[in-house]
Amino acid sequence: MKQIAVFASGTGTNAENIIKYFNNNAKARVVLVLTNNPSSGVITKARALSVNTIVFNKIQLQDREGVLKTLVDISIDLIVLAGFLLKLPSIIINSFNFKIINIHPSLLPKYGGKGMFGNNVHKAVIANREKESGITIHYVDEQYDNGEVIFQVNCKIEPEDSVNELAKKIHQIEMEHFPKIIEKLVINGT
Ligand code: GRF
Repeated sequence: MKQIAVFASGTGTNAENIIKYFNNNAKARVVLVLTNNPSSGVITKARALSVNTIVFNKIQLQDREGVLKTLVDISIDLIVLAGFLLKLPSIIINSFNFKIINIHPSLLPKYGGKGMFGNNVHKAVIANREKESGITIHYVDEQYDNGEVIFQVNCKIEPEDSVNELAKKIHQIEMEHFPKIIEKLVINGT
């Protein structure tokens, strides 16, 4: 059984969706949810689905004996960032080379980088009157939203679409595609 760890900082709807998807999978499972945010919705969502959760601080994230040791000790095969807002330190990135992926709610390299998360992304996309947006799933390196792209899918933006309407469209394609891409990577190898 392959073991997946999910990092999240916010509402946790992607994390919840991924946990549920793998609850019915014989080959892989989400075994741990990690967050830097003690009031993140992901904690209650994961607990309700009987997944262990860990809240950590920035020092524990940087410490070889902290978050990294936990991930290594339970033999995590794939780390999934699902709305995780901190940068992972190089000690974790180097120990899980091509085994860490992130989802970003735009068609990278457009609308990526520091500060580009959640509605900030959608606001910029709408302000620029883009005709399409989408999601990008990519490997994680030491820069924000920069690693090799694994998968992208787009959605159309109508001229009258608001930021919230775009957010809904993006959310829908995240729910549909993210677990399937994770499944491919974790089962067939990254
Ligand atoms: C998603 O839009 C994801 O693409 C981005 O952060 C958001 C997380 O939402 N990286 P949630 O916490 O999974 O509800």
